[in-house]
Amino acid sequence: MAILLPGGAGYIGSHTAVELLNQGKEIVIVDDFSNSKSEVLDKIKQITGKDFKFYELNYLDKESLEKVFEENDIEAVINFAGYKAVGESVKKPIEYYINNVSGALVLLDTMKKYGCKRFIFSSSATVYGERKEVEYTEEMKRGETTNPYGTTKAMIEKILEDIYTSDPEWSIGILRYFNPVGAHESGLIGENPQGIPNNLMPFIMKVANKELDHLNIFGNDYQETKDGTGARDFLHVVDLAIGHIKALEKLEQEKTGIYVYNLGTGNPYTVQEMVDTFQKVNHVVVPYQYTARRAGDLPIYYANSEKAKKELNWVATKTLEDMCKDSWNYVQKNSNK
Ligand code: UD1
Repeated sequence: MAILLPGGAGYIGSHTAVELLNQGKEIVIVDDFSNSKSEVLDKIKQITGKDFKFYELNYLDKESLEKVFEENDIEAVINFAGYKAVGESVKKPIEYYINNVSGALVLLDTMKKYGCKRFIFSSSATVYGERKEVEYTEEMKRGETTNPYGTTKAMIEKILEDIYTSDPEWSIGILRYFNPVGAHESGLIGENPQGIPNNLMPFIMKVANKELDHLNIFGNDYQETKDGTGARDFLHVVDLAIGHIKALEKLEQEKTGIYVYNLGTGNPYTVQEMVDTFQKVNHVVVPYQYTARRAGDLPIYYANSEKAKKELNWVATKTLEDMCKDSWNYVQKNSNK
């Protein structure tokens, strides 16, 4: 019996693969390396000392995906295969809907064909949309999404609800990630975006490494935050990976059902706090300047993480210092500079 990880060579997938292997689980990774590198597979093996099966394929390729189900006894799927760049999704909506939504449908249809009905989906806090409340609870209705990336997440959540309604034998976990940052403490795996990054931590990493000359802090006049810069619920990717293990255990225990969890620390930190902490713990300089607010950004939001604590026995344990240290350790071990 194995857990299938489409997109398992990516940032969050690779960290989850490590935690699953550490738990003694058998895994199968499929990835097309569209936003990852094949070396990651060796790194996962190096960290865990364990081996696993790998298939290079795009999960939209149903014939190849079916072969994976033919050749392996897949008990559950944790789907990490999805495009995730907000700005790019605005420019390439068709590609995002095809890859994320059609890809998920091909995967779910294949699972159905092979009688595999346990699925964990990487959703996002973005499904809450723009709203007045700043602490998000799972009971809140999904909001109006503001970009195609977010819409794909909301659409897939809805599709999963419909699948469960049609067949209550499914067991489905929907994990709404807040802002994952950091890297494995070994420094062997982490986030390595191609080109100029959009997200805060990858941008800080490139500035600290002198690949970019300064960081723009988008807005320092938000009334809602303690220092005027935006605030987010940053969480360490290893904590996030462990959240998947806990969710899988929950699905195994309950056998059937659809469960939604926020995965965040519940503690927002500001952009300024992130930059200050990064400089302090890593003894590096991150030159920055304040610029205008970025269109579409909310001042502050964070997870209410009580449900995951109560039902999954999951809490994020790593600190902002850990997130900053581990990110920098990863850069130092993997920089070509
Ligand atoms: C966005 C997406 C979220 C996605 C996440 C990770 C939305 C509304 N949010 O979150 O769904 O999961 O990316 O891919 O679609 N900042 C700067 N300078 C920078 C970059 C960022 O000041 O160069 C600030 C932003 O203004 C924000 C904070 O840092 O206040 C975090 O930004 P970012 O890392 O891009 O994540 P989100 O926008 O929160």
